[in-house]
Amino acid sequence: MPSPRAELLVAIDGPAGAGKSTVAKILAERLSLKMLDTGAMYRAVALKCLREQIDLSVIDDHGPTTLPTIDRVVALTAATYLEFGPGDPAPILLDGEDVSGEIRSLEVSEAASRISVVPGVRRQLAGAQSRVVEQGGYVLEGRDVTTVVAPSADLKIFLTASIEERARRRWLEFHAKGMDVALSKVVLEVVERDWRDYKRDDSPLMLAVDAHIVESYGKTPEDVTDEIVRLLTPDVV
Ligand code: DC
Repeated sequence: MPSPRAELLVAIDGPAGAGKSTVAKILAERLSLKMLDTGAMYRAVALKCLREQIDLSVIDDHGPTTLPTIDRVVALTAATYLEFGPGDPAPILLDGEDVSGEIRSLEVSEAASRISVVPGVRRQLAGAQSRVVEQGGYVLEGRDVTTVVAPSADLKIFLTASIEERARRRWLEFHAKGMDVALSKVVLEVVERDWRDYKRDDSPLMLAVDAHIVESYGKTPEDVTDEIVRLLTPDVV
């Protein structure tokens, strides 16, 4: 592989549990680029909503967009300061507090999925993300990074695997952290999050025309990273 430009931008989208974060992290290390986990930002805002005891169950993909709850969530997003602290992996700071561990719970996953259908939230977070990666030098991952956040990325990947495989991986992750969650609950969570990701009106998860589809089933994160690195041909890097 030719050595990549310092301002190279690699964008990875895909559904929950496809392995985006792990692969993005390994890829960023290999290419000496920074990594931006856009989902962590949705999760941090969702955690703040939960702490403020906002009832997110009333947010419906196709419901009225003027619900007071939606206005509250949008206002709360605007009043939130998000940044990534130093370290590897970089901790996410919610108004200065490291919430990297807390945002990984099943409850926060569900809340993040719900707030992610709100256009006012997406506009703010996607705008901030675009500004961060403007100068390049990033591997970024999420649900709309190949289409909205960084549509001119040098390399676009759509990383995917079956629902069963993605749920199994998430379940193993929970168990590795000592969280006793039933597999059936994790399958349901993944199905629901997929549904919201693909169906929402504002910037749904979709395949960018110029994205490469990479299947992660049966492959280690290193194998998947190798496959992506092979796509970094001289015209890309
Ligand atoms: O990638 P993740 O599981 O950490 O993301 C959490 C939620 O945030 C996910 O359910 C959808 C949403 N999300 C999004 O809508 N757009 C992004 N770019 C990243 C995440």
